[in-house]
Amino acid sequence: MGLSILKICMAEEFIISSGSKEEKYRELLPQIKAVVEGESDLIANMANVASMLHETFGFWWTGFYRVPPPQDGQEDFLILGPFQGPLACTRIKKGKGVCGTAWERGETVIVPDVDAFPGHIACSSLSRSEIVVPIKKDGEVVAVLDIDSKELATFDEVDKKYLEEVAEVL
Ligand code: SME
Repeated sequence: MGLSILKICMAEEFIISSGSKEEKYRELLPQIKAVVEGESDLIANMANVASMLHETFGFWWTGFYRVPPPQDGQEDFLILGPFQGPLACTRIKKGKGVCGTAWERGETVIVPDVDAFPGHIACSSLSRSEIVVPIKKDGEVVAVLDIDSKELATFDEVDKKYLEEVAEVL
């Protein structure tokens, strides 16, 4: 009970910087750490992180796809996790689309123009650019953080740097 009250208070105190993109990330990261440190459940943390990123930057779609546990027998697919934004595809095959590519490569993929990315999966026709950051545990990708923008070329090395830190925190 005490813990829930503390979390509600933290959520109410969520501060969004009015500065540059880098300043926004710098202000956001410790707040993400504070929220995640108090909770061990990955889904709950993904939900709050999706919300905090989405609220801070006003992205078009912000969310997670999870690699299901091996015992589910579905390990070739990413499955939709917590997100903010419009309806999304529920399963993405390994190596397919931007998400499946980031999973297969085990590294961040930045796509300045989704129409120029072969195999891009258009969950929303309004998405124009995208970044996908793998989340790893013991060296294995367990999920990806996927962010879509309605503008071209929204994401750069600044986003990569800070979103990879977010992935570390998770
Ligand atoms: N565009 C992604 C699919 C997920 S949606 O953007 C939410 C891709 O190509 O993997």
